[in-house]
Amino acid sequence: MKENEKELVDLDEEGNVTGEKIEKKPKKNDYTFKIIVTLIIIGIIVLAGILVYKQYNKMSHIELIVAEDYDEMSRKAANIIADLIKKNPNAILGLATGSTPVGTYNELIQKNKNKEISFQNVTTFNLDEYIDLDKNHPQSYYTFMYEHLFKNIDINLAKTHIPKGQGDSKLNVQNYENLLHNNKINLQILGVGRNGHIGFNEPGTPFDMGVHDVELHNKTIKDNARFFENDISKVPKKAITMGIRNILDSETIILMANGTNKADAIKYVMSHKVDVNIPVTALQIHKGKVYVIVDKKAASKL
Ligand code: GLP
Repeated sequence: MKENEKELVDLDEEGNVTGEKIEKKPKKNDYTFKIIVTLIIIGIIVLAGILVYKQYNKMSHIELIVAEDYDEMSRKAANIIADLIKKNPNAILGLATGSTPVGTYNELIQKNKNKEISFQNVTTFNLDEYIDLDKNHPQSYYTFMYEHLFKNIDINLAKTHIPKGQGDSKLNVQNYENLLHNNKINLQILGVGRNGHIGFNEPGTPFDMGVHDVELHNKTIKDNARFFENDISKVPKKAITMGIRNILDSETIILMANGTNKADAIKYVMSHKVDVNIPVTALQIHKGKVYVIVDKKAASKL
């Protein structure tokens, strides 16, 4: 402080004060100004760094695994599921239908036949079911699961659950919601629709929705016509589905996709942008681990 004062007054030869205080040297002001500006810039850089880190950290729970092809994708997914069942023979699995998980189910059937894993104490909950399609129709998800998995493994059918698509809709929704409330899914398997739907959660579905009935979008109806002799009129127009909230409640999620027609959906899920119009982007806000296992074609837009 004293040193400073000396610089601010005129002194005679003996060191007495002779004049008025003189103005601060402009050089000093310059320094202060420069220091403030530098500090502000550093502050902005640090703040931007924190924001970017936070944004990317949101995705740190997502592990992208790009497989050579469909078979490798299926093996990788099956290995993760098998490891869970080995660690926890009472595991609760969330299951999906569609062509995507068929290879994974085949791998699991093989592992069960080899006695590598047992499904005896495993419980399952499926994502969805068509409404007003007979349970025993060849294209019902009930039939799908029985044919592609359940009849080929040592699972107790009483421990398998598929939403009911027939009868009192409100009651079916409430019952399935209650079941999910009482059973926390350890691992949920997901495919994805071309429009980014998961289960039958079509674009625009709020992320906090639980089990609900849904009118299928035209794109979904067209996509699923291949299972109904390519006849759109035969495709059910409604479905019952777990909501995105139920999906996000599961501990771990495996999202699988293969083929170029899924490349956009995969680009969106890895985009760092959560969008209610692309339901699969909800996985970015999942609290647990998410494996995105895709073949090279589905990864082609990353
Ligand atoms: C249906 C199912 C979804 C599935 C999607 C994709 O709409 N409800 O759960 O993910 O089809 O099907 P695929 O795997 O045949 O492409």
